[in-house]
Amino acid sequence: MSSQVHGAQHFDKAKRAEIKFSDAAMETVKTIISRYPEGKQKSALLPILHLAQAEFGGWLSPEVMDYVASVLKIRSVEVFEVASFYTMYNLKPVGKCVLEVCQTSSCWLNGAEDIVKYIEKKLNIKAGETTKDGMFTLKTAECLGSCGTAPMLQCGASFHENLTYEKVDSILEKYKSEGKQRNYTDLDYQNTL
Ligand code: FES
Repeated sequence: MSSQVHGAQHFDKAKRAEIKFSDAAMETVKTIISRYPEGKQKSALLPILHLAQAEFGGWLSPEVMDYVASVLKIRSVEVFEVASFYTMYNLKPVGKCVLEVCQTSSCWLNGAEDIVKYIEKKLNIKAGETTKDGMFTLKTAECLGSCGTAPMLQCGASFHENLTYEKVDSILEKYKSEGKQRNYTDLDYQNTL
């Protein structure tokens, strides 16, 4: 995979050699692939990329994408094309908790902009940035399908709805005290805090 394909991200052969799914993740990969007919394993790409993102630090490096391509026996560029299309895949390092604040109509009308400003001030970062301790990345997002409980934010698999400044304080405190990476594949998701 050429570094040109990945823009600013450099491809490191030594790093690539070290990348391997854990046994548990590989079992899941095999189960996902088995849902599709022989020769159609590319159809398993989206869930496997989510798994890879959770397994390898919350983002998809060029080396991880190349590894996923080898697992699915497809070309690296096919993985990159998909990963770079969807906003749920991170193509650069992010914090352990990625806070995605919805900015679309219902959330916007119910104070999403103020929520973003509040988080920016509290974490001392701007939207799109990561805190120095690597704990939080703040992002804005388009409608996340929870318009009736606006304003809301998503972190990994969890939705936090009807946000107030107090709720934001509790959410940040909770995630910080847990100190763990939150993924879209987490099973301990929750709605509202
Ligand atoms: S507008 Fe925010 S979830 Fe739909």
